Amino acid sequence: MNKTLRFQWAVRASRPAARLVLVQDGRLLAGPSLPVPERRALEAWLAAAKFTGEVAATAWPPGLPVPVLLVGIGKTPEFHPARWRRAWAAAGRALANVRTLKTISCEWPAAASFPLTTAELAGLAADGLLQGEYSFEAYKSERSARRLAIEWTGAALATRAVRAAVHLAEQTGGILREVRDVANRPANDLAPMALAAQVRKLARRAGLACRVWNQEALRRAQCRALLAVAQGSHRPPCLIRVAYAGRRGWRPFVVVGKAVMFDSGGISLKPPKDMDWMKYDKSGGMVALATVLLAAHRRLPRPVVAYIPAVENMPGGGATRPGDIVTARNGKTVEILNTDAEGRMILADALTFAADEKPAAIVDVATLTGAVIVALGHEATAVLGNNDRLILELMLAGEATGERLWQLPLWSEYDEMLKGKFADLKNIGDGSAGTIAGGAFLKQFVPADIPWAHLDIAGTAWREAEQAHGAPGATLAGARLLAEWAARSRPGP
Ligand code: BES
Ligand code: MN
Ligand code: ZN
Repeated sequence: MNKTLRFQWAVRASRPAARLVLVQDGRLLAGPSLPVPERRALEAWLAAAKFTGEVAATAWPPGLPVPVLLVGIGKTPEFHPARWRRAWAAAGRALANVRTLKTISCEWPAAASFPLTTAELAGLAADGLLQGEYSFEAYKSERSARRLAIEWTGAALATRAVRAAVHLAEQTGGILREVRDVANRPANDLAPMALAAQVRKLARRAGLACRVWNQEALRRAQCRALLAVAQGSHRPPCLIRVAYAGRRGWRPFVVVGKAVMFDSGGISLKPPKDMDWMKYDKSGGMVALATVLLAAHRRLPRPVVAYIPAVENMPGGGATRPGDIVTARNGKTVEILNTDAEGRMILADALTFAADEKPAAIVDVATLTGAVIVALGHEATAVLGNNDRLILELMLAGEATGERLWQLPLWSEYDEMLKGKFADLKNIGDGSAGTIAGGAFLKQFVPADIPWAHLDIAGTAWREAEQAHGAPGATLAGARLLAEWAARSRPGP
């Protein structure tokens, strides 16, 4: 990794190369460290430029003796952890786009005006900075190799809790950036078995057990739902298991992540405008991987196991035809009426492996439906499941990490939609409630006594274009929240 942000705590006498000043309610959040003439100049500029400090708005006002990066954090009553994190991500993005800067210092605002602890604020800020600053450069001939240091000043920050929160964000940030580098790779350079090799490498380095079922092993395990998706591609599928052992006597959390290396739709081919970014269809798998790596790094007591079914959905000569019927690993038969509803097929088989682990809970993560983008856009991940307590835990963890979840219902009435004409199930509903139909299908593959939740990250996993708060590409939305959820879980099975 060629770019790092460093956070330093002690007040340094050295003259900062630049200054970062937050703007809230249209006013500068800066204390005595900002010299009066500069403050006056900035205030004049704010008024002239009508810079109101909307969340993630940034600016470098001209003509100051020391360059100042202004970062908007919005209005006090609209404060939200996700917005605070986003503002800092925008700061990270603004800094990434300035190639000459060496250090920047920020005077921390008075904590009283925020509904979070200073440690929580600092952790979110560091996380935002690191993720905002990241961009995917593996395939560019010219890369920006530059180290950027951020120095924080202000006694409020010199506490243990703050240090710990920032340290955690830095460590987490390193892991997430590494996994994002995998998640951003195009499908021509990352076949399912190549992904397995990557995962194995990362798992080994973290001291984690890793097992891979290749195509032969998947046949023996009767994963015909998964294999049906893969059979239109020349590149064989696999199922990857990565396990962090945690403390003895605790039952694991199992995270199942959809890894469709490329989703052409298969014979039910997608329209071209929906296609190039379908290399992002492996995002759920990448989130599952990141979650175990984070759990292991934090040495959580809770064991965390990831299952990552990896396939390519292609319309080759051997491809599954609409109307084909297959038997999933749990014995249920499925009519495949649309080969583009492939995620639920591979998850179906992976979920039965997850259930075999006797887990305390299962969470699957998938870019499952375009319908979730219709419902929630790109601001929230949909959460559905069979256990409202689990769902609430996940939602609260998401509030803490700035990754928002929104629940959709999964009442048994919806199961009707998925009854097959010639088989037990069909893989699509009637066209209504597309995200719920996906969840209702998955539910058929999870024993009812295991708490289970499904995260549909189709709208949150990818940034199509450069935005104020992030570079284009994989976001790994859900990874921090799942690690946080595992960290919060109480002792025992
Ligand atoms: N990976 C897609 C989900 C998707 C589609 C994400 C469009 C973003 C934009 C998934 O495999 C898929 O194709 N889902 C279908 C399901 C349908 C056939 C029931 C969809 O959403 O169109
Ligand atoms: Mn699809
Ligand atoms: Zn898909």
